Amino acid sequence: MQISNRQLFLNHVAQVSPKPMDLEIVKAQGVYLYDTHNNSYIDFISGISVSNVGHCHPNVVKAIQQQSVTYMHLMVYGEYVQAPQIKLAKALTDLLPASLNSVFYTNSGTEATEGALKLAKRVTGKTEIICFTDSYHGSSHGSLSVMGNEEFKQAFRPLLPDVRIIDYNSIEDVNKYITSKTAAVILEPVQSETGYTVASNEFLQAIRKKCDEHCALMILDEIQNGFGRSGTFFAFEQTGVVPDILLLAKGMGGGLPIGCFISSQKLLNEFTYNPVLGNINTFGGNAVCCAASLACLQTIQSEKLMDDVERKSNLIRSLLVHPAIKNIKGKGFMLSIDFDDTDLNFKIIETCVKNGLIVDWFLFNTHSMRIAPPLIITDEEIKKACAIILKSINESVSKT
Ligand SMILES: Cc1ncc(COP(=O)(O)O)c(C=O)c1O
Repeated sequence: MQISNRQLFLNHVAQVSPKPMDLEIVKAQGVYLYDTHNNSYIDFISGISVSNVGHCHPNVVKAIQQQSVTYMHLMVYGEYVQAPQIKLAKALTDLLPASLNSVFYTNSGTEATEGALKLAKRVTGKTEIICFTDSYHGSSHGSLSVMGNEEFKQAFRPLLPDVRIIDYNSIEDVNKYITSKTAAVILEPVQSETGYTVASNEFLQAIRKKCDEHCALMILDEIQNGFGRSGTFFAFEQTGVVPDILLLAKGMGGGLPIGCFISSQKLLNEFTYNPVLGNINTFGGNAVCCAASLACLQTIQSEKLMDDVERKSNLIRSLLVHPAIKNIKGKGFMLSIDFDDTDLNFKIIETCVKNGLIVDWFLFNTHSMRIAPPLIITDEEIKKACAIILKSINESVSKT
């Protein structure tokens, strides 16, 4: 008897939860995924904030094809002069304030977090890291240490010492807890896994002020927020603060795995001496991933994809009116649709998927639905997606 792909997946691909989504996708193009039965699904979450330019964007595919026949891996990160790395670093730093002029490449978001935490300790000579309730910055040990949720950390202790969790958007906590002992404060301008909670500008500015006062570094994690999703290339552009370290990944690669942390050359030089090779990796800045990332960045610019994010976000908000929807929060293409109840939320999400629309929940907020579409989505596709959500709510409400 032939074993199905689904069974092989369950048998041989390590599982992260008892209930994976389990779709067998054979092709992805634009905002659509197609399964083995040729059912189509609108990807309304961009594979969790990754496919900002849609799936298999021709510019990204072309860049990958060209670079992959030129060279792929040449040497561990940081040794050779490689055009794709340089072009991407130049393009990224051109978009940023002058103080963020040096890019350290990683393969993922969590490695960017790890690098930033190490850099903060190295630069300040201090150890205390401040993070926020229900923050998520990755799943490796350092990142897990600055996760603001004990339930997910408990089993993996001991983690990094000297981590203090304070309340997001609490200026009072900021003023009380950021002190001369603080090495760094890490947060997202829009906190993703609580259901896209937007930081107030006053809160971010208070953090900036306290960090300056106490020579602590402000680390902004734009791993989900960045690459246009907020309506500007970086979400912090709308806040009046500039971080000391910026984290990027996810949407950065146009579908390939790449991340980075960006800071000043002066700070990043600390990794160069005492000890030499203070932070290293093998594949960071992989030529093919950098070429894909540059194509993604240029596509966001040339197709003016950011211009329409706010309008389309408002279109989604205006279409999603239903008594079961209690609130819609977020910014740009990061929206949280809040229901009263976790069971109902899961039922609606499951029904949406059955009806051809991929939506999801949040790690630390199970009564809300995640919406984070590709930036290329059209008004017609948004209308189709929202109609599926309303239909799925009706079908789910009538069954509960
Ligand atoms: C805000 C944020 N930071 C960091 C990460 C970790 O990124 P990665 O999964 O690439 O390690 C994620 C991933 O979901 C994230 O959402």
